[in-house]
Amino acid sequence: MHLPSIPILLLSLPLASAFPGPSRSSSNSKASRASTPNPIPTIWLAGDSTTAPDGGHNHTEGWGQYLKYSFGSNAFVNNSAYAGRSARSFTREGRFDRIAAAMSPGDFVVIELGINDGGRPLNGSTSTTGDKGRADCPGAGSETCTVVFNNVTEVVQTFPTYIEAAARKFLSLGAKSVIISEQVPNNVWESGSYARTPSIFSYYDLLVTERLGGPAAGAYFVQHGSYAAQAQKLLGPDVVNANYPMDHTHTAPFLADVHSQAFVLGLKCGTSPLANLVVNATARIEALRGPCLPANETLPI
Ligand SMILES: *[C@@H]1O[C@H](CO)[C@@H](O)[C@H](O)[C@H]1NC(C)=O
Ligand SMILES: *[C@@H]1O[C@H](CO)[C@@H](O)[C@H](O)[C@H]1NC(C)=O
Ligand SMILES: *[C@@H]1O[C@H](CO)[C@@H](O)[C@H](O)[C@H]1NC(C)=O
Ligand SMILES: *[C@@H]1O[C@H](CO)[C@@H](O)[C@H](O)[C@H]1NC(C)=O
Ligand SMILES: *[C@@H]1O[C@H](CO)[C@@H](O)[C@H](O)[C@H]1NC(C)=O
Ligand SMILES: *[C@@H]1O[C@H](CO)[C@@H](O)[C@H](O)[C@H]1NC(C)=O
Repeated sequence: MHLPSIPILLLSLPLASAFPGPSRSSSNSKASRASTPNPIPTIWLAGDSTTAPDGGHNHTEGWGQYLKYSFGSNAFVNNSAYAGRSARSFTREGRFDRIAAAMSPGDFVVIELGINDGGRPLNGSTSTTGDKGRADCPGAGSETCTVVFNNVTEVVQTFPTYIEAAARKFLSLGAKSVIISEQVPNNVWESGSYARTPSIFSYYDLLVTERLGGPAAGAYFVQHGSYAAQAQKLLGPDVVNANYPMDHTHTAPFLADVHSQAFVLGLKCGTSPLANLVVNATARIEALRGPCLPANETLPI
């Protein structure tokens, strides 16, 4: 006898306990398009190699792969992060749109980008030359840069414009929260002593969260970079250096898991309803990864 396919199970059995584990098969995307919330929400991840499945390749891993362990059977995680992407290329390639098409009301979306967004758009770039079609137009507002990329004229927007547009789309489709997550740092022990400087994209993340209306509008900021830096500081140089096998950006599985826990800590130290679905007690996470950090005074988290 053949078992019914997952979509049939989904439609006929509303009980959460009907699912053996936290991974949701891609064939569920059809059921996900229903207009009513799923009994178990999905957390959709948009990001780059620091979040993505298989990380930056070569046995590295993205933190998004470990997020499910902090939610048990309370939520599914769909890691739609993809190596090499920036806010600009994630948008141009329809990656935000694909999440929008597959999500259901009541789902959560986490957006963490920035490591591939620097520089400025160059005329005549291709996927392998120039800015590789990744650099955003510099600025915090509605500035645009017109360039030819892969022989096509592209009106490039700023980082805040891309992230805000994606977040507004998810919220308009009924996302319970959109979480704008700060990019994780490079190896904080790279120079031999601890050093961490947030990038301009940390500031842009805050700015976007504020423009979206903050928690009152379902938009939350998680200081993921600060929490990941704190966790790396506590681990010390030997462990951290050993977990950057390829360069100072891409993490071995152990450190990717730590970065996932750092994200969850940041979430639990704020007020997003997603924090309520975490299976771990805040004190237990703090004991390993460090305390809750002070938040930006001008923006509630
Ligand atoms: C995540 O969602 C996308 C878009 O619906 C889908 O193509 C992909 O297969 C999903 N991934 C998993 C692991 O379910
Ligand atoms: C990944 O590993 C392969 C084989 O060792 C190597 O040729 C390649 O340069 C590595 N890629 C990066 C980006 O380090
Ligand atoms: C790219 O070239 C076009 C003309 O071909 C020009 O209008 C545009 O300003 C240039 N963009 C940049 C960023 O140099
Ligand atoms: C761009 O156009 C040139 C000249 O027509 C062509 O040789 C090249 O393959 C094109 N590149 C892309 C990425 O389409
Ligand atoms: C707090 O956020 C605002 C933007 O919303 C920014 O101008 C300010 O610099 C931030 N403060 C700190 C300490 O990061
Ligand atoms: C929560 O507990 C699970 C199971 O022990 C563990 O895998 C996960 O990393 C924990 N999460 C955090 C944030 O500590």
